[in-house]
Amino acid sequence: MTSVDTLIKSAPGDTCSPALADGPWTFDLGLPSYGPGASQGDIIPTGSPRQGQLPVEYQRASTEELHDRIRVAKQELGDRVVVLGHFYQRDEIVQHADFLGDSFQLANAAQTVPNAEAIVFCGVHFMAETADILAQPGQSVILPNLAAGCSMADMADIDSVEEAWAQLAELYGTEPDESGRVPVIPVTYMNSSAALKGFCGRNGGIVCTSSNAATVLEWAFERGQRVLFFPDQHLGRNTAKAMGVPLEQMPMWNPNKPLGGNDEQGLLDARVILWHGFCSVHRRFTVDQIEKARAEHPGVRVIVHPECPMPVVDAADEAGSTDYIRKAVAAATEPTTFAIGTEINMVNRLAAEFPQHEIFCLDPVVCPCSTMYRIHPGYLAWVLEALVRGETLNQITVPDDVAEPARVALERMLAAKPRA
Ligand code: 13P
Ligand code: SF4
Repeated sequence: MTSVDTLIKSAPGDTCSPALADGPWTFDLGLPSYGPGASQGDIIPTGSPRQGQLPVEYQRASTEELHDRIRVAKQELGDRVVVLGHFYQRDEIVQHADFLGDSFQLANAAQTVPNAEAIVFCGVHFMAETADILAQPGQSVILPNLAAGCSMADMADIDSVEEAWAQLAELYGTEPDESGRVPVIPVTYMNSSAALKGFCGRNGGIVCTSSNAATVLEWAFERGQRVLFFPDQHLGRNTAKAMGVPLEQMPMWNPNKPLGGNDEQGLLDARVILWHGFCSVHRRFTVDQIEKARAEHPGVRVIVHPECPMPVVDAADEAGSTDYIRKAVAAATEPTTFAIGTEINMVNRLAAEFPQHEIFCLDPVVCPCSTMYRIHPGYLAWVLEALVRGETLNQITVPDDVAEPARVALERMLAAKPRA
């Protein structure tokens, strides 16, 4: 049984694409696309990294053979390699991860393995870039499939953000107010390119993750009159709203329009300017799904990720990062029914791990993150066996001129602890 069969068979409902039953290598040499899954309709930038063809022996190997080969390679490499896995990875990958976590925890983990020569990052491109920035000199960071990007991260590029910044500087000037706060602080979600993290580092800004977004916005409001938040409008809006910022003071910035599609007064009154980006996985969740879950499962506890649209977060009982969701389920002492609004691999794993609870995904259609799906045990075996031979494949390297300011913004983020 392939891993996607496992995913499909363990969850009720239809899949959003029949192509999910195919190995990810089916898409390596085709037209550039994110592949099947939630973001298959999103537009992939022309310059996105491409993955060359996975050698046929890995495509043809059975899942059991791949697991054996991964185990043998890891044993041979010992402490020389560390495998990091995000919660959204398929189970077949998670079982080989030395650390499993959300993006904040994995960024921390990348800093705590100074003896490893290589960090194999089973997640997506922006996470591997972050690991490379935070890793020790001489450590290499490997992304097993270079096509594992993130459609949300791709919705903000450095040129559009620089252009927005120039327009805002013209409108606001650059002088601080009487309390020393500059006109605007840039905040980028972790789900963004290293270039945008570098932009924040160069311009007095900071990175946030979904687990520390509120702490980061507090940090930014201490130093600035307002925030330019990119790329995820939903995380920005949900977090600022919970902090009491009125919706009228959160205009959206559309990079294809002058002044982002706003008038000058709207931007002068703004507290948080939200970039026009979103996650196609979390955009699938709806208030109707929550109402249905409540009607069919009285007493259900609904927890969603803050990348979901605001009406969904408002209708849920709680919202939090992937680690928050995991901890909430783990902490429930009584058998509980949970309806979860996040990626299907993680929801299925929680259901298997906590059989005392009834746990299901709010979305009845099985539609994983297209880019997390691109990491398969075949690619993991391929990069690990290459390391055993002394070859480093698929290394992610952030150039120094980007990495240095990006590190400044990331270190600010790591100091901004998630609220308890
Ligand atoms: P976390 O920060 O919760 O790990 O989420 C990362 C992500 O990509 C969610 O879509
Ligand atoms: Fe990007 Fe959404 Fe996938 Fe997270 S779930 S990696 S934000 S596309």
